[in-house]
Amino acid sequence: MLSRDIRRSFIDFYAGRGHAEVASSPLVPRDDPTLLFVNAGMVQFKNYFLGVEQPDSPRAVTSQKCLRVSGKHNDLENVGPSPRHHTFFEMLGNFSFGDYFKEEAIASAWELVTGPWGLRPDHLFATVFEDDDEAEDLWLRISGLPPGRVLRCGEKDNFWAMGETGPCGPCSEIFVDTAPELPEVGFDEGSDSGRYLEIWNLVFMQFERHEDGRSEPLPNPSIDTGAGLERVAAVLQGVDSNYDTDLFGTILTAVAGTAGSEYGRDPEADVSMRVVADHLRAVGFLLADGVLPSNEGRGYVLRRLLRRASRHGMKLGFEEPFLASLLPSLEETFAGHYPELEKAREPSSATVTAEETRFLETVAVGAGKVQQAIEEARAAGGSVLGGEAVFRLYDTFGLPIETVREIAEEEQFGIDEEGFETALAEQRERSRAKSLSGSAMATRPRFGADLAATRFTGYRDLELDARVVDLRTAEGESVVELNGAGLAVFDQTPFYAESGGQVGDVGLLTGNGDEARVLDTFKD
Ligand code: ALA
Repeated sequence: MLSRDIRRSFIDFYAGRGHAEVASSPLVPRDDPTLLFVNAGMVQFKNYFLGVEQPDSPRAVTSQKCLRVSGKHNDLENVGPSPRHHTFFEMLGNFSFGDYFKEEAIASAWELVTGPWGLRPDHLFATVFEDDDEAEDLWLRISGLPPGRVLRCGEKDNFWAMGETGPCGPCSEIFVDTAPELPEVGFDEGSDSGRYLEIWNLVFMQFERHEDGRSEPLPNPSIDTGAGLERVAAVLQGVDSNYDTDLFGTILTAVAGTAGSEYGRDPEADVSMRVVADHLRAVGFLLADGVLPSNEGRGYVLRRLLRRASRHGMKLGFEEPFLASLLPSLEETFAGHYPELEKAREPSSATVTAEETRFLETVAVGAGKVQQAIEEARAAGGSVLGGEAVFRLYDTFGLPIETVREIAEEEQFGIDEEGFETALAEQRERSRAKSLSGSAMATRPRFGADLAATRFTGYRDLELDARVVDLRTAEGESVVELNGAGLAVFDQTPFYAESGGQVGDVGLLTGNGDEARVLDTFKD
């Protein structure tokens, strides 16, 4: 089955059982400051589980775009060496919001994997949470699997939580034996080695975890499931690696073709090709969902992915920006299911090219400086680049710490990350003190009565598009462009202004590729 047929078969199977087909939400969660990116299918439904909002339908099915690069669920470091890990991936999921519970979730999953997906029951295992007798009984009864193939696991594997807070519950996973022709091995050994592959996680949502660690029962027990499309495709297409499925075929062919080589010939080059292919997917979808490269938060994750792909491109021999030329292979792979890629084609391509060009320039100058610093440290008998040295490379030449780390690793050198963080924190403190002293913040200019009052939306929004209606230098002079500290007045703002004993909000302004830090907010 091609991946698009697998996606469709999942959705149709559950739509045929009364589930509303819901489109994937964007990768950036709506109104959820606890998460940087959507990392599971249930994120867009969080409030339905918590009982805060009511769904139109009590059952839903999706193929959700997910990104696992930060926080509780982070797979970044595994990408490249691992045949199964990704930053960006698609999660197939069926959901019940207080409607059916364990029995129907297990029965329908079993029917799909052994029916339309054609997996042999004697190649499957199920796991349940250690004290979940009910789930174990259901599996034995519904699937007919022998007791040795329904196993109990502890909290680490079989209790799922969205993050440090939010909905959570015990879960049950379906595993496939990917080498049934070999003699059986113990489950632990098999699942660690990758022989027994988890393809689907059924979560029995029962609790809400709070910041103070307390768990409370949810208003209605619910179902949240997630099957990684890439893994299911590998199993149904009979290949050992997700990267050998049709989800990656077109992209890897494009990467290899552009590099004038072939995927599958040289293990080291293959690692780099997998990184490029994986990160290209993440970058393409992030841009299509409106994230732009920057030095903080989501934008910084995008920037890191882009730079990491670019670095691996260099290993493959690219000397010029190449990532944008691969974007069409992404569109081709997802044609028909994610129209946002096509819609964002031109701006995405321009952003990738600009970002990569700048990065290549930085590295061209910086890499030599890293080599030099390593040689100096080596001559002094060291094997680690000191925090100050790494900070200088960052501060003077703009080299990101990840790049310094990678170049150092290639030289079997370490870097003092803690020392770097200390130097960085010290510099931040110095520049904060400098910008707050003797600047506009001390002498606040008065604004004319002709300026309309700024509309405050901070009880509802944490971020907002707004228009600058007045701009002043630190000395209070009106200007149309500002470099350095100054004052900006907006038509509307989510920033709370200093008043009634509350300090003004701090945060970030972005626009037209520029970025400025809000150090204080006050009202005139
Ligand atoms: N939310 C569950 C997971 O991500 C299904 O594994």
